[in-house]
Amino acid sequence: LGPARATEIRDLIHDVPDYPHPPIVFRDITPLLADGAALADVTDAFAALVEADGGVDVVAGMEARGFLLGAPLATRLGVGFVPLRKAGKLPPPVEREDYELEYGHASIELRRGTLAPGARVLVVDDVLATGGTAQAAARLVERSGATVVALAFLLELAGLGGRERLADHTVETLLRVE
Ligand code: PRP
Ligand code: ADE
Repeated sequence: LGPARATEIRDLIHDVPDYPHPPIVFRDITPLLADGAALADVTDAFAALVEADGGVDVVAGMEARGFLLGAPLATRLGVGFVPLRKAGKLPPPVEREDYELEYGHASIELRRGTLAPGARVLVVDDVLATGGTAQAAARLVERSGATVVALAFLLELAGLGGRERLADHTVETLLRVE
C-alpha cells in the first residue's frame, strides 16, 4: 500500500470508543470489508508480502475476522485455507491451544491432519493487540510439524506488546496505530 492509499484504508477502519467496554477503542473493519476496492487492495498487499517471504503452501486464519481476510488471500495466492477455530466448533479429532486474554482465557483449535508436516504456512488476522491469539495460532501450526513463514495482520496496535511477544517469528503488518 502506498502512503495515500494506506491513509484511505485506515479511514475505512472505524474507531469505536468504549466498545466492548471502557477504555477499549474497538477497531472495526466492517466498512473496509464492505468496500470492494479496499478489500482487493488489502488482499493484494498481503499477497505481495507473502511473495517477498518466499511463498506459502497454505493460509491459516483465526476465527472470526482472520477468516474474512485469509480466505480471499488464499484464493488470490492459489492455495488452500485452514480455519483456526474457537474451541468447540470443529468436530474431533482436534488439536487445542489455550491462551490468556487481557481478562480471562480462551482456546483455539485446529482439525488434526489438516496441515501437512513441512507445509509453509501464513497465519492471518485483522488486528495484532497483545499477540496472545497469534502466539497460540503459531503453536498450533508448529505442533503439526508445519512451518510458520510469517504472521500477517491488517492493523498493529502498537504498545500492547504483540510484536515483542511474537519475536521468534516474522511479523508483517499493513497498518499501525499507537
Ligand atoms: C480479536 C482479533 C484478533 C485478536 C487480537 O479477535 O480479531 O484475533 O482479538 O487480540 P490479541 O492480539 O490480544 O490476542 P476476537 O477474539 O475479538 O474474536 P473475533 O474475531 O471472533 O471478533
Ligand atoms: N482485538 C483486540 N483488541 C482489539 C481492538 N481494540 N479492536 C478490534 N479488535 C481487537
